[in-house]
Amino acid sequence: MTVFLVGAGPGDADLLTLRAARLLAEAQAVVHDRLIGADVLSLINPDAVRYDVGKTPGQSDAQRAINDLLVELGGRVERVVRLKGGDPFVFGRGGEEAEVLSSHGIDVQVVPGITSAFAAPLLAGVPVTHRGLSHGVTVVTGSAVSGSTVNFASLANPDLTLVVLMGVEQRALIAAQLIEGGLEPSTPVAVVEWAATERERCLRCSLFELGAAHVRAPAVLVIGAVAALDVAKVRSLVASWALA
Ligand SMILES: C[S@@+](CC[C@H](N)C(=O)[O-])C[C@H]1O[C@@H](n2cnc3c(N)ncnc32)[C@H](O)[C@@H]1O
Repeated sequence: MTVFLVGAGPGDADLLTLRAARLLAEAQAVVHDRLIGADVLSLINPDAVRYDVGKTPGQSDAQRAINDLLVELGGRVERVVRLKGGDPFVFGRGGEEAEVLSSHGIDVQVVPGITSAFAAPLLAGVPVTHRGLSHGVTVVTGSAVSGSTVNFASLANPDLTLVVLMGVEQRALIAAQLIEGGLEPSTPVAVVEWAATERERCLRCSLFELGAAHVRAPAVLVIGAVAALDVAKVRSLVASWALA
């Protein structure tokens, strides 16, 4: 009996790995997240039992219930797929689920997925690294910015790109801390909502404008010089707009 922790990519079923598609077709039970699109779910074996365990951010009890469900299924079902958005080990609590399953003696296999941290900027035409503009990229969560986990002021570096997941709600605080840490208020920002889905759109603004910008989760915030680029201008699928 095996539980496969599978990355579903950012949205579009075309961005699944071949291994993920095969495992979905062969699964006897699938436990999936809230943001998994209908096209991806349609690849699940029609005879498989499905568990939609979508939870809203911050529900720690829900995570405990998911862990218990996985342990229960892993003990009696031959092929279980735990399907998670993006990559299972990027802010998906996949590592925690793998540890819990292993500690119960259940065989776990992990299948990487394309993370929204990199797919969302790319689909909006923003290369996260670019010769002469950005020497590297830092990926962080914005969800606990008012707590002690991420000190954004310490991440202010004009030579690097900052990619923030789960940062929509705290975007004003994130921007304020980055400016306090030394980033110019004029630093370019791209906010990519619902990447790789038909609701995808990209807002361009400055760091100073970010707090008041009208954006909705799920979104990836891309902060740094590269956010002014649009190397995919030839493509017309992405709606892009800028603040006046
Ligand atoms: C709990 S994290 C999971 C990340 C996921 N494991 C990954 O690798 O993409 C959820 C956050 O990922 C980002 N996200 C996931 N899918 C997205 C998408 N299609 N478009 C934009 N942001 C997305 C958002 O910041 C969202 O709040």
